[in-house]
Amino acid sequence: MSATVTAARRVPLLDLTAQHRAIREEALAAITRVVDSQKFILGDEVLQLEREISAYVQTPYAAGCASGSDALFLALLALEIKPGDEVLTTPYTFFATAGAIVRAGARPVFVDVDERTFNMDVAQIADTLDRHPNVRAIIPVHLFGACADMDGILEIARARAIPVIEDAAQSIGSEYKERRAGSLGDIACFSFFPSKNLGCYGDGGMLTTCNAAWHEKLAALRVHGARKKYYHEWVGVNSRLDALQAAVLRVKLRHLDAWTAARQRNAALYRLLLADKLVPVVAPEPAPHTTRHVYNQFVIQTPDRDALQARLKANGVGTEVYYPVPLHLQACFADLGYRPGDFPVSERLARESLALPVYPELAAEDIEYVCATIQAFFAG
Ligand SMILES: Cc1ncc(COP(=O)(O)O)c(C=O)c1O
Repeated sequence: MSATVTAARRVPLLDLTAQHRAIREEALAAITRVVDSQKFILGDEVLQLEREISAYVQTPYAAGCASGSDALFLALLALEIKPGDEVLTTPYTFFATAGAIVRAGARPVFVDVDERTFNMDVAQIADTLDRHPNVRAIIPVHLFGACADMDGILEIARARAIPVIEDAAQSIGSEYKERRAGSLGDIACFSFFPSKNLGCYGDGGMLTTCNAAWHEKLAALRVHGARKKYYHEWVGVNSRLDALQAAVLRVKLRHLDAWTAARQRNAALYRLLLADKLVPVVAPEPAPHTTRHVYNQFVIQTPDRDALQARLKANGVGTEVYYPVPLHLQACFADLGYRPGDFPVSERLARESLALPVYPELAAEDIEYVCATIQAFFAG
């Protein structure tokens, strides 16, 4: 790798217009089909998508909803999580994971993450549960496209009869020991936010499960808790998936495996180019249990993060910090009583992690340019 950064380039963190160019005709035809049908809410288009997602995720059931955030909330409602209950998750995740717990009236309890996988540290779960006997659900997050260590989590959860909700918002198609994210726990939640590997043209989400009764309840909870129209068994919410979004997602799902392969190729090239001993960054290396990493993000770690991010920005490279404030230190969670130092790995990752562009349409030259810029930064 050359240390000189020559021609100026622009490499955004994500360029959805590149993807759109490739599928424009298919997507517009799907949108036209829905507009012509004038059927916009749930209906056949959503049903077909649910079938296709359940086949993809390898679960018998899937239910569309309005967002990944709502999917988490609906899962907690289905499990009858209520005020006074606690729910275990990690502080190193997108806000929605813990926000949903509070929306359900419960209290988040955090356990730190593993510094290599960014995911729940299994070694700390049992102790935390001993100190929190009111934990009624566990939400491991499959962060950045890699799976949490589900065998370890499920073993502890099963021994205590605590259900497990997978937050798979960032990890559609990811595999744990060759089984798909979303088929591993009791209920799983996906997001179709545009920046996700499978993103729609607005907000959208999906719940998957292997349990027929939970599926029926989830499908009712998203329409105000009615299995039969106007007969309400539960108090649910309005969280329906639009037919327009489902139609776009059905088009994109056909391309998802090719896009994932491109993300994996990009990640491999980064790893190769960043292996230089003089570049003090830690590149993500999938844990052996993640047999398919789908790289929704490619997140490096370096103590010089802020200065490196500024240098990359000055050279036209988009990056992002996921996430600058771990959830236990968020102002809105001050009443939970956590303090700086409680979760040292999450706190360090908040200071040192940096997401580099990894979207499928990146050219090898873009990645070489990003890596040359990083090398030039450390060369001084
Ligand atoms: C880990 C995680 N959980 C939940 C969500 C919420 O999904 P949505 O934005 O669709 O509400 C996201 C999306 O950003 C996420 O990354």
